Amino acid sequence: MSPASAAVRLTDFEPEVDDFAEDVRRGLAATPKQLHPKYFYDAAGSKLFDRICATSEYYPTRTEIAIMERYAGEMAALAGPRVRLVEFGSGSSVKTRLLLAHLDQAVAYMPVDISRDHLMEVAEELAAAYPEVEALPICADFTTAFTLPAPKRHPARTLVYFPGSTIGNFEPAEALGLLRRIAKLAGDHGGVLIGADLQKDIGVLETAYNDADGITAAFNFNLLSRINEELGGDFDPRLFRHHAFYNEELNRIEMHLESLAEQTVTVAGQSYDFAAGETIHTESSHKYTEPQFAQLAAAAGMRVRHVWKDDDGLFSVQYLETI
Ligand code: AVJ
Repeated sequence: MSPASAAVRLTDFEPEVDDFAEDVRRGLAATPKQLHPKYFYDAAGSKLFDRICATSEYYPTRTEIAIMERYAGEMAALAGPRVRLVEFGSGSSVKTRLLLAHLDQAVAYMPVDISRDHLMEVAEELAAAYPEVEALPICADFTTAFTLPAPKRHPARTLVYFPGSTIGNFEPAEALGLLRRIAKLAGDHGGVLIGADLQKDIGVLETAYNDADGITAAFNFNLLSRINEELGGDFDPRLFRHHAFYNEELNRIEMHLESLAEQTVTVAGQSYDFAAGETIHTESSHKYTEPQFAQLAAAAGMRVRHVWKDDDGLFSVQYLETI
């Protein structure tokens, strides 16, 4: 073991593992039918997501990275010296590295993730790249309350980093609850750096979720493959279509799998009837205006200190501070 990986200390809250079978049973029995987007990300789905990010149509990831490349120095300056950096999710560490490269004497890096293996991988990689920053991965479900371990060195501030516009996957009431818990973790004088996708021309939004090569469609269909393979389902993908559109009332992209015919599907011995045109709602991706996001932050007990955007105003990274 390298000295860097020896320094990685896991705090394990032993989060409950997802019950895919039970969630599928409930989701398909519900009206309207629905499945949680967290189930997109098995190995195949995670690869498809990476390919989505590389399409010309899907702007969020590349735009957020460009914002970090350009402004991470300003973000780090606002956060100040000796922060403990708590990251919600331990996605690809590209954005985190851009931030760590600019933070002044960060005392600890604390990724929070429900997947222990992925968490440890990312923590060890970053520990090797930044050996002077204590690596304290936390295995927890970040949608529930948890506490932070104490780093060896005393932090001047807690900075919670929540990139990727994952906040957009939550319904407004859930997003508020999550931001309240984040504000609590950040504590007095804490900072929250969060990526939020912005409202824009509907054509641009809908194109981003309907790429010409059908990668987003394949990502959506991967849910049916998972059900077929893991739960012995008999979904015929030819009898469904990918449908992604902007819901203007609710300010969100919705992704659905739409049944092309009246049909009955069986999963684990249980049958589910579909009318022609009936859908399984698989994801919502909420888009915010700056005032809407400021209002959400305020309701969670924070104020917006600064907003960084790309020149086209597609995406935002916002520094919130607790009041
Ligand atoms: C990873 C949740 C931010 O909502 O845009 C991409 C996922 N879904 N294309 C998003 C996704 C379809 C993505 N998030």
